[in-house]
Amino acid sequence: MLCAPTVDHVGGRATGLPVAGLTALQALTTHGSVTPGDRVLVIGASGGVGGYAVQLAKAFGAHVTGVCSTGNVELVGSLGADRVVDYTTTDYSDPDHLEGGRRYDLVIQLGGTTGVSRLLTVTEPTGTGLVLGGDGGRWLGPIGRVGAGVIGPGSCRSCCVRQTPVEPI
Ligand SMILES: NC(=O)c1ccc[n+]([C@@H]2O[C@H](COP(=O)([O-])OP(=O)(O)OC[C@H]3O[C@@H](n4cnc5c(N)ncnc54)[C@H](OP(=O)(O)O)[C@@H]3O)[C@@H](O)[C@H]2O)c1
Repeated sequence: MLCAPTVDHVGGRATGLPVAGLTALQALTTHGSVTPGDRVLVIGASGGVGGYAVQLAKAFGAHVTGVCSTGNVELVGSLGADRVVDYTTTDYSDPDHLEGGRRYDLVIQLGGTTGVSRLLTVTEPTGTGLVLGGDGGRWLGPIGRVGAGVIGPGSCRSCCVRQTPVEPI
């Protein structure tokens, strides 16, 4: 394992930026082709990738709905999500729970086990669904259910629910 020292004025929160931030950016742009006004659903909005996805989607002018658990609702709202859905109390894949009955143009799944066919019921017919990971089965992980910005100083922050100290080498 290669460990890099953290820089004081950046802090440990920035360590997730290179991979998690670029993963979110790639999902939104390369694969999601997000445009201003798009309705974006980020399932796993309080996580490493999802936190960036929420902030970047907002920076691209999208209307963002973030999905997370009860304890992270406030966090996801503070990241700029227009709407936050608590997956412990609300089924975000139920068309009856769509805001104003409007489906999403882009769905990015990072957590949970909701199947692709179910997610399609809340996705516009011309929309895009991306499964970047999420929980899954014992053998295939999430694969078993897959059918398928600019970051300036201070404009984007990492979501860090827990930190594990690493002893100096
Ligand atoms: N981190 C990276 O750099 C990276 C890069 C590429 C791909 N990936 C993949 O992307 C996926 C997410 O990675 P991550 O680092 O963002 O994970 P993470 O930090 O553990 O976040 C997981 C997210 O999923 C949410 N979640 C958990 N159970 C859920 C459920 N039943 N329904 C809906 N949401 C649920 C969590 O919400 P609560 O915490 O509020 O419960 C949290 O927001 C993983 O499969 C990972 O392999 C990660």
